[in-house]
Amino acid sequence: MREVAIIGASQTKFGELWDISFRDLITRAGVEAIEDAGIEGADLEAMYIGNMSAGLFIKQEHIASLIADHAGLTPIPATRVEAACASGGLALRSGIMAIASGYHDIVLVGGVEKMTDVVDPTPAIATASDQEWEAQQGVTFPSLYAMMARRHMYEYGTTREQLAMVSVINHENAAKNPKAQFPMEITVEQVLNSSMVADPLRLLDCSPISDGASAVILCPAEKAREYTDTPVYVKASAHASGTIALHDREDITRIDATVHAGRKAFKMAGLEPKDVDVIEVHDCFSINGILAIEDLGFVKKGEGGLAFEEGVTRRDGDIPFNPSGGLKARGHPLGATGIAQAAEIVWQLRGEAGKRQVEGAEIGLTHNIGGTGGTAVVHILSR
Ligand code: COA
Repeated sequence: MREVAIIGASQTKFGELWDISFRDLITRAGVEAIEDAGIEGADLEAMYIGNMSAGLFIKQEHIASLIADHAGLTPIPATRVEAACASGGLALRSGIMAIASGYHDIVLVGGVEKMTDVVDPTPAIATASDQEWEAQQGVTFPSLYAMMARRHMYEYGTTREQLAMVSVINHENAAKNPKAQFPMEITVEQVLNSSMVADPLRLLDCSPISDGASAVILCPAEKAREYTDTPVYVKASAHASGTIALHDREDITRIDATVHAGRKAFKMAGLEPKDVDVIEVHDCFSINGILAIEDLGFVKKGEGGLAFEEGVTRRDGDIPFNPSGGLKARGHPLGATGIAQAAEIVWQLRGEAGKRQVEGAEIGLTHNIGGTGGTAVVHILSR
């Protein structure tokens, strides 16, 4: 198996982007990643695209060849990867495996979603839950994560204010990220007074509906310095599946797929959580920021809320969390999220993250979840 490096990264602005089409959005991200890597489009041997639901959001399937065609990249093989909100993370893993196996030498991995073109995106998002047992009973993602939050509060005494701190810290970071959808600081009081979505989760506990795209360029580690002085190396790529429906779980305060993917990733990298300098985790709702740092082993089970309350997860704390602003405030265009997380870690490890830079970051981790944890993908990257 060959080692893999990331030599280029890009992200479009995330937000309500009505002035750009789906195909232009991902092409823009791809071109910027190609320029960042210092390669030519003609150097690309394959493309993997993470996308959850173009069929439901913009009525377009068959998007991988659509993008290759629009970007002038035919006839390279172009593959769409779908795993709900973890589509981007899983596309990245597919690209990594294509290089590691020796099948390809230079691969573009992109992620894209255009969610704001439909009037009500909620039914499309809900297709990532169990249709028969959850969605058709009227349960949506905010309400599924609300049940997980309630149970966590009951079991561990996690407070409403601690949940709010997850959003406060995300927005603090997003305020320094020009590509974030909601780059404004917020207070705990604002979170607690925002409109109720699914008790106990309020508007400012939720990731938004977003358009956006992101891309990275991969090559074998041994060739990376031919293209760049600042390659970022893939130390681990781990993927685990879990039950899609919440009622099938032994414990809804834990996402087993995260636990398994995290353990596998740390074992593969020969590292422990204490070795990681910066993390980009899947905080689609504030509770998931807490679950993520617990289930990945950064804090003990039940102590995630306290870590946010005490500011351990601030950019200058022991566990610098979501310097991009996370899903909450950078935005969450579903299929693009896993790639945007990797792009942020690449910029952090290269020391190019501007005002949101985590000083001296050498090792970073990304964590991307599909649904409520039917899929989890964890990557560990180093400079
Ligand atoms: N954070 C901060 N502000 C938000 C926001 C968010 N998550 N979502 C919307 N807003 C703002 C809008 O900008 C708008 O502000 P304005 O009135 O100043 O223009 C206002 O709140 C109302 O926006 P609107 O789009 O009408 O909100 P909504 O009530 O239709 O949707 C949610 C809000 C939280 C229900 C929706 O964003 C949502 O469903 N999020 C979860 C997405 C999801 O499930 N993703 C998958 C995760 S697994």
